[in-house]
Amino acid sequence: MNELSLYLLDIVQNSIKADSKNIIINIIEDTKEDLLSIEVIDDGKGMSEETLKKVTDPFFTSRSTRRVGLGIPIFKELCETCLGSFQIKSQEKKGTRLIGTLKHSNIDRPPMGNIVDTIYTLIINDEEVEILYNHSFNDKKFTLNTKELKQILDGISFKQMDVMMWIKDYIKEGLRFIKEEEL
Ligand SMILES: Nc1ncnc2c1ncn2[C@@H]1O[C@H](COP(=O)(O)OP(=O)(O)OP(=O)(O)O)[C@@H](O)[C@H]1O
Ligand SMILES: [Mg+2]
Repeated sequence: MNELSLYLLDIVQNSIKADSKNIIINIIEDTKEDLLSIEVIDDGKGMSEETLKKVTDPFFTSRSTRRVGLGIPIFKELCETCLGSFQIKSQEKKGTRLIGTLKHSNIDRPPMGNIVDTIYTLIINDEEVEILYNHSFNDKKFTLNTKELKQILDGISFKQMDVMMWIKDYIKEGLRFIKEEEL
């Protein structure tokens, strides 16, 4: 996988599978500190200590259809390759918090990729799941909150064609604004 958004998709899909009702995604890009961090916090079923220990092992998965779970181990490895760090904490019935940091300018750091489609895919996956997405770039920050979106849309589904276009444009514009200085 050579896009960070694909790792994010995988990580948040784990949160969704764990029956989370609220998921927070924090992406921080700080070019002054030369760091990029991706944090996902959920209130899903969490993991036992035993599962948590195994979770960074590429041969562990609780799924039965495929033997090897790769999402978390390869993300951890990527963070370490990019001179960063990885941390995961979890508590049964409470939730999970995972954070991966990479050196922003590292040659092996994958590009962000298509974060717009990733966020859109995640928010339509199950409209009952509330997602708070914060993305900051140095001093500027963009936030998308599905609770607020629902209020604005007043019962109209995120999946409706014109709503889809609007949400994607909103994210695109927000990210363009925070990254202005990079252009
Ligand atoms: N947020 C989470 N909450 C609860 N359990 C989790 C969470 N993230 C991961 N897990 C547990 O860790 C295991 C490994 O996750 P990982 O993403 O590496 O593989 P997978 O989800 O099983 O398989 P794949 O991602 O390939 O579909 C999961 O099967 C699940 O038991
Ligand atoms: Mg997974």
